[in-house]
This record gives sequence, C-alpha cells and structure tokens, in this order.
Amino acid sequence: MQLVSLTTALLTTALAVGSASAQPPAPTILNYDTLYDHPDTPLSATACSADAGVLKGYKTFGEIPNYPHIAGSFFVEGFNSSSCGACYSLLYNRADGTQVVLSFTVVNSASGGFISSAQGVKDLTGLDINEFPGNALISILNVPSIDCGF
Ligand SMILES: *[C@@H]1O[C@H](CO)[C@@H](O)[C@H](O)[C@H]1NC(C)=O
Repeated sequence: MQLVSLTTALLTTALAVGSASAQPPAPTILNYDTLYDHPDTPLSATACSADAGVLKGYKTFGEIPNYPHIAGSFFVEGFNSSSCGACYSLLYNRADGTQVVLSFTVVNSASGGFISSAQGVKDLTGLDINEFPGNALISILNVPSIDCGF
C-alpha cells in the first residue's frame, strides 16, 4: 500500500512536470550586446560566476556548448541565480513569414527580456546589427539543458 502511494506520487510529479513543459511560449523582447560576441570573456564577469550547476567547469563564453547562442536574461535576479545555465528556446517570426527557433544558454542577468550576442541575434532574426531595430518581439520556452548541448 505504501509502495502504491509512492508510485502514485511519482506519477503525479511526472505529470506535473510534463504539463509544465507543455506551457505555451511566453512573449518577451530580444536585444544584443557585443559583450557576448567575445569568446574570451570570462564567466567570472557575469552574475553566473559561481561555477555551479550546468555551468560548472566552464570558464569563458566561448566554452559554452552552443556559443554564441548565449544570453543575459531577466530570469537571473542576481549572483548564482538558479536560472544560470538554463536553456531557452527563442522563437522569432521573420518578416518573410518563417518562424526560426534556436536554443540559447542563460549566462548572465539582464535588465529586461533577453540580451544575446550580435551573432545570436542575427542567427535568429536574420538581421545584421545595422538592420536590427532593437526590442525584437520573441517568444521563449524553457527547455531541457540537453537542447543547449550540456
Ligand atoms: C551557488 O548555488 C548552488 C546551488 O544553490 C550552491 O550549491 C553553491 O554553493 C552556490 N555557490 C556560491 C559560490 O554561492
């Protein structure tokens, strides 16, 4: 009987996790900072400098598996946030009607939305820095860290 309730509890947890990941993407905005285009920038220069979680052992931006698809995010509220190293799918609807979806690793805090490298912004939106109007409307979805190559 004890075992049955435990199994039920585990199943309920699994279902809850399943439905959480089935949540619709949330809208936010995307900008760039060329800080993220420098592979030699040490993680110690960010709010995610604690050498913890999936980022443990990674010393520079360039070592992150899906670099330059890295970003600062408003989810990181301060030093050693549990959102450091989180993987998010970013969805962008290009002017030609195509929707591009790419995964980005959260490596820093940001005052609003997501801030990635100029190259990351280009890969998602198709726009060079000089064409990018800023504050691009994107949708985001938290995905497993394996989607970011961890
Ligand atoms: C960072 O957070 C993790 C998980 O909560 C904790 O184990 C670790 O000690 C923290 N590291 C620092 C340097 O605060």
